[in-house]
Amino acid sequence: MRRSAEMQEARSSALRLLLLICCVCATAGYPFKTPLDLDVIPRVTVLSNGLQGCRRFQSSAVNYSTMLLEADSERLYVGARGAVFALNASDISASSAPTIEWEASSEQKRQCLLKGKDNKTECFNHIRFLQRFNSTHLYMCGTHAFRPLCAYIDEERFVMSSQPEEGRDKCPYGPTTGYTALIIDQQMYTASQYEFRSFPDIRRNSPSPTLKTEDAPTRWLNEADFVGSALVRESLGSSTGDDDKIYFFFTERSQEQTTTYSHSRVARVARVCKGDRGGHLTLQKRWTSFLKARLTCSLPEYDFHFNMLRSMFVMPGNTPQDTLFYGIFGLEWKNVKASAVCRFSLSEVQEAFQGPYMENQDSGSKWKEYTGKIPDPRPGTCITDALRARDMNVSTALPDDVLDFVRRHPLMSQQIQPSDRRPLLFRRTTDYTQMAVYMIQGIDGQTHHVLYMGTDEGWLHKAVEVAGELHIIEELQVFEEQQPVNNVLISTKQMSVYVGSPSGVVQLPLSNCRRYTSCYDCIFARDPHCAWDGAQCVDILAHVDRSTLIQDIQHGNRGCENTQTDVVLRSRTVRVGDDVLLQCELSSNLATSLWTLDGSELQGYGLNSGFRTGTDGLLIIEARQDQSGLYTCYAVENNIKVSIVTYNVTICLDVQPPPPVEPTEDLYSVFTTVPPPTEHASSERPLPPPPAPLLPHSELLSPRNMEAMYLSLITILGGLCVVLTVVLVYVGFCLRVGHRGKYSLRAAAAAYPNSKKSNRNRKQHRNSSHMELKTISSHCNGNGICNGVSKQHNGGAPDGGFLQIVPGEGHPSPNKGPPPPAPPLPPTPQLPSPECDFPNGLSATLPSVLRRMNGNSYVLLRQSDSENTSPSCYSFAEELNKMLEKRKHTLLLPRPDESSV
Ligand SMILES: *[C@@H]1O[C@H](CO)[C@@H](O)[C@H](O)[C@H]1NC(C)=O
Ligand SMILES: *[C@@H]1O[C@H](CO)[C@@H](O)[C@H](O)[C@H]1NC(C)=O
Ligand SMILES: *[C@@H]1O[C@H](CO)[C@@H](O)[C@H](O)[C@H]1NC(C)=O
Ligand SMILES: *[C@@H]1O[C@H](CO)[C@@H](O)[C@H](O)[C@H]1NC(C)=O
Ligand SMILES: *[C@@H]1O[C@H](CO)[C@@H](O)[C@H](O)[C@H]1NC(C)=O
Ligand SMILES: *[C@@H]1O[C@H](CO)[C@@H](O)[C@H](O)[C@H]1NC(C)=O
Repeated sequence: MRRSAEMQEARSSALRLLLLICCVCATAGYPFKTPLDLDVIPRVTVLSNGLQGCRRFQSSAVNYSTMLLEADSERLYVGARGAVFALNASDISASSAPTIEWEASSEQKRQCLLKGKDNKTECFNHIRFLQRFNSTHLYMCGTHAFRPLCAYIDEERFVMSSQPEEGRDKCPYGPTTGYTALIIDQQMYTASQYEFRSFPDIRRNSPSPTLKTEDAPTRWLNEADFVGSALVRESLGSSTGDDDKIYFFFTERSQEQTTTYSHSRVARVARVCKGDRGGHLTLQKRWTSFLKARLTCSLPEYDFHFNMLRSMFVMPGNTPQDTLFYGIFGLEWKNVKASAVCRFSLSEVQEAFQGPYMENQDSGSKWKEYTGKIPDPRPGTCITDALRARDMNVSTALPDDVLDFVRRHPLMSQQIQPSDRRPLLFRRTTDYTQMAVYMIQGIDGQTHHVLYMGTDEGWLHKAVEVAGELHIIEELQVFEEQQPVNNVLISTKQMSVYVGSPSGVVQLPLSNCRRYTSCYDCIFARDPHCAWDGAQCVDILAHVDRSTLIQDIQHGNRGCENTQTDVVLRSRTVRVGDDVLLQCELSSNLATSLWTLDGSELQGYGLNSGFRTGTDGLLIIEARQDQSGLYTCYAVENNIKVSIVTYNVTICLDVQPPPPVEPTEDLYSVFTTVPPPTEHASSERPLPPPPAPLLPHSELLSPRNMEAMYLSLITILGGLCVVLTVVLVYVGFCLRVGHRGKYSLRAAAAAYPNSKKSNRNRKQHRNSSHMELKTISSHCNGNGICNGVSKQHNGGAPDGGFLQIVPGEGHPSPNKGPPPPAPPLPPTPQLPSPECDFPNGLSATLPSVLRRMNGNSYVLLRQSDSENTSPSCYSFAEELNKMLEKRKHTLLLPRPDESSV
């Protein structure tokens, strides 16, 4: 008690401190409003053991870093540490994949160690580059223990076709250095910071003129970290492709002066002409067409600027002019997780490169827009017919003033804005790393863009764009171990998405429509692949006649009005005074539950109502006889109510009213959403919700003093990080660190309706064991038997005739964990009998009791097998007490279930 009082004290002082910070920041003008409402929640969560049609490739090698998909040969080439594999793209798990072993020699590794490099990570041959060279050969480069080498691969025999050659100018030395490269017409274009101390550079390597970027007097690239590159054949009406350009995407240190904010790093796109041959005297062996511009991706109303470009996916359109660039952006603060997805069109990019230039008059100052005269021909343009007609048929023939201008003005003034001037997606708590996009035509003939995005924790999010925003259809746990996804590739031929990570490669089908079990489920999903055919959710690509299919990507709620949904009907017979959990698990994270009793909505689930709702069902507390009736659980999503399950609850009088037992209140709170507003209950939560500073506490504020704002923001974020770190470390000790933490944090922010929380917990629970808690009570009955009864269902255990299970409810996962001991069969499993007392009469013989703790998992309580009355009763209560006591101390984060109000 003293302890909890102390905690209470600490908590209130912490709250006061937070409040003080808030006030200080408020007066400083920090806009506390955060775009919580924009944060997109994945509709469905699938854990790795629930993935269907998943194929894995793993070998003794690690650090699978490069992937090359060859649609024609149906091969997926994968470069790892010390090896390259040729996998069968239709089934990457097929055994005996051809392999090329290529590890650095031990002598080379020794030298690497002498250079002071890490022999656990850097002194290996990490394959960094793997692409097609010509019709018969591939080309690859490896870091080769800090001495890069490149080699040709004979594709047919899958062997190295020659001795490796020098790779110093083509490949970075380290395994994690930012790097992008392309082979175009057998010439290699690379961008990286090659050696440890060298400047970043964009290069074209021999045989044709080797070109580089300029370092002096103006440095074209500043600590650039490259993430992607692409060739865009944008030559209009030219057979020679002389206006084709190569685009490079990166983040670099900012040079320009900006009025509204100061950022040290900015996202950029740079381009060079494919036909560039360098200058004659000025810019000899340098690009004459290098220009760069800033890519912006921000939520200006919240002053969120995503300056770090993490990856770029270039989606070719029907014509080169329709090319789209999908970028994943992050915040500059490394310890704050947040991602935004912005899309840029080629025409926007081109417009910036046609616009004004920036200049920097004396090297110390910041860059400003250049307003002077621009020489002719326009600096940075490619040599096209128009220039050839003016006798400039190679870049070496460009006039000196043009080249000199290019040399000093690499930066464009105009910033490139994303489509709709805002991100397609914003997500806190997730760092996306890689993505791939493809287009599919829905049954209404509209083209939809489907994005597959990998996270830094080994998850894959699938999203569809609807009216300029992304709807996340599902999140899939592709890798059980937390690790960054570093490759995502799509094959429409194989209808597969390939996901690479340090530990392996996974192949997944592009969609899994069968997951959706009802018409509404299928429609709500908004998966462009999926449509309802009257009986099931099917893949539209497998249907030639699509006229009868139902799909509604645009609104996600139309077409199912006349379809029948199966409602599960279950019966519950309990005694007065018992606590009954009526389970209702929603498959969608976007749905909220709604309960009716005999047709009328249950109002107010407050403490005194006798009802509590949680993420997994409705709890009837100390049931009264007048609470008997038909309870129906509805899932409300997209303004549509879909009934899920109906319980026929019969509450009977008990012979002997059980005496109140101490831990009951705690017991209930395990399931509740609304915390009992008592001192006792709140003392269970030693810490205030940590991310409080992110809460939209105030709407009165508007951004004014920007510098102060940033200072305060940094202060808050710093403080937040400290709090979060402490909390996470603690949680890491206490809980099995999974994805739960995320949801807890999110829930702690109290920004979501109850049922959106702890979805993964729900899923975890669902996938791991199909248990159903039926009646919970720590009361002893007259016979002295503890009737904390748990009941197994859907897991193959007998129903005892009490439950009527309609097919379609509950999906026994093939990989689910070992089910707890099944209760023995009741003698006559027949129709429900309205007898009271112990449902199924199991309690006397049930060897163990299952309890759900922290809303996350079941805890097995041992119960004495002995028929001995009072000891077994005592031990049960004691066990519970111990556990609850322990929970009080381990529960640092406010549980999702308790954090609202
Ligand atoms: C390579 O894999 C090992 C083990 O999975 C991991 O510790 C290391 O960070 C990885 N290195 C890179 C560069 O991905
Ligand atoms: C890939 O696997 C499929 C079936 O699993 C098989 O039909 C095909 O021949 C294989 N392709 C190669 C190149 O081995
Ligand atoms: C790395 O080098 C250290 C000596 O500096 C040595 O003890 C260790 O065994 C080496 N580790 C590996 C994996 O080679
Ligand atoms: C492809 O390149 C390799 C390596 O330079 C060469 O040996 C081979 O003959 C080339 N193949 C064709 C078809 O040009
Ligand atoms: C460039 O143009 C000049 C004059 O029109 C011509 O003599 C020369 O051959 C051309 N060079 C190339 C490489 O086409
Ligand atoms: C509910 O159960 C009671 C007895 O347990 C039964 O009389 C009643 O008909 C049931 N109601 C429905 C709708 O099944």
